[in-house]
Amino acid sequence: MLDVACGRAEVLRRVAERFDVEATGYDSDAALIESGPPGLDLHVRDSPPPGPFDVVLCIAASHALGGFPDALGALAQLVQPGGEVLLGEGYWRRPPSTEYLDALGGASADELADYSGLMRAAEEAGLTPLHASVASEADWDRYEWLLILNAERWAAARPGDPGAEVLRERARSARERMTMPRGRDTLGFAMVLLRRDA
Ligand SMILES: C[S@@+](CC[C@H](N)C(=O)[O-])C[C@H]1O[C@@H](n2cnc3c(N)ncnc32)[C@H](O)[C@@H]1O
Repeated sequence: MLDVACGRAEVLRRVAERFDVEATGYDSDAALIESGPPGLDLHVRDSPPPGPFDVVLCIAASHALGGFPDALGALAQLVQPGGEVLLGEGYWRRPPSTEYLDALGGASADELADYSGLMRAAEEAGLTPLHASVASEADWDRYEWLLILNAERWAAARPGDPGAEVLRERARSARERMTMPRGRDTLGFAMVLLRRDA
């Protein structure tokens, strides 16, 4: 099993423990890989190792494979025929406003599709949707407000750190998103299980 841009490899650790599989992950951030959990085969790199793998995880990481929708083709190549991809990807629940895109840090509407477009793009890449689970508004509330709280706490505890201003800005944008009209129901996030066609 491969985890693309695994970050701290927390998802990979949980899946590996539960299913007792050989788990490989990579991320371009050396600090994250160095602080990853023991017992996993973790690498610092910015492109995937050669496949194919039985299962590939790509959670909030399609940018590491060229972004949506190109990442879907790359994922289809990484998994063997009949193998499965677990994709965690954003989608538009409604067309985003200019203000919302600005508060996402200058995103553009064509970076994502709507839910149906996400599924169609997977099928066009040779990946058949098997199951999907989407974040609820309660999930989003927990994610965004905890992100704001943690970013501001981190920055307050390290006033001289160059990263403090970056995190304060991230918290400011997230608060703007969460409090603007339609800010809580514009962006969705789906975990989609996909099977590569044989
Ligand atoms: C939003 S995080 C997701 C991490 C992980 N998949 C998770 O769900 O916790 C995105 C990750 O992509 C990594 N990243 C960005 N570009 C990359 C690249 N070209 N190759 C590998 N990792 C990359 C970042 O370092 C970061 O850890």
